[in-house]
Amino acid sequence: MINAIGVHKSFAIGTRKVHALRGVDLTIDTPGFYAIMGRSGSGKSTLLHMLSAMDRPDKGEIIVSGKAIHSMSEAQATMFRRKDIGVIFQAFNLIPTMTALENVQLPGLLAGDQSKELVNRSHELLELLGLGDRTTHRPEALSGGEQQRVAIARALLYKPAVIFADEPTGNLDTTASEMVWAMLKQIAKEQEVTVVMVTHEPVAASYCQRLFVMNDGQIVGTIDAPEEGAFDAGTIATRTQHLLSATQ
Ligand SMILES: Nc1ncnc2c1ncn2[C@@H]1O[C@H](COP(=O)(O)OP(=O)(O)OP(=O)(O)O)[C@@H](O)[C@H]1O
Ligand SMILES: [Mg+2]
Repeated sequence: MINAIGVHKSFAIGTRKVHALRGVDLTIDTPGFYAIMGRSGSGKSTLLHMLSAMDRPDKGEIIVSGKAIHSMSEAQATMFRRKDIGVIFQAFNLIPTMTALENVQLPGLLAGDQSKELVNRSHELLELLGLGDRTTHRPEALSGGEQQRVAIARALLYKPAVIFADEPTGNLDTTASEMVWAMLKQIAKEQEVTVVMVTHEPVAASYCQRLFVMNDGQIVGTIDAPEEGAFDAGTIATRTQHLLSATQ
């Protein structure tokens, strides 16, 4: 499903060079809900950009849903982002002049798809996300949590095998955040989607089955949810700290 091998990425800022990814290896081969956790600046967003073909690695291989991203043309990358994966951002990225329904349909409209199936599927997805009575609302008439659920519905439009989410609850309060995490978990399970969420909050990671811990441009370890019993934020914070202090 996802296989990244030896991924490197640097940025030049003036004469300074930031080595943001320093040989990331990441494998996910079972659908489910996964987290990438790490401190600010550890390279989480950069990694997500590489995995979702928004940017290219300097070195390394990335295969997502059987497609080799590192060697795609710009046009192939655009189609890949539109149809093969779903992406969710902290800032929701909805079009303010469009209704909730139109925002969900957007990837299809951009691809010239005007089919009835597209409209039906968009309605179904808004129902699934608990927004059946919000289809004609514009983003300004929706709460932050509702806007993010519209964005999740949009990400599911073409039944992607993989959804990437970068700090999806960064702009939400606790209650709305919990709803978004619970929905992502449910979607991963019921739709057999792989959801990869970047977060720096242990409580967000507690909804996931596995966490990849990042530090200084590398994945330094993984933490699996226990088969039974609670996977709570406290346990996650402690185990993450252990991993980070062991790699310093
Ligand atoms: N476009 C860019 N140009 C220059 N430097 C960048 C760029 N994008 C990221 N960086 C640098 O790469 C490093 C990793 O950044 P990244 O955004 O991936 O971190 P992050 O783990 O997502 O952090 P946060 O939790 O704050 O979002 C940082 O030092 C950052 O300043
Ligand atoms: Mg980030």
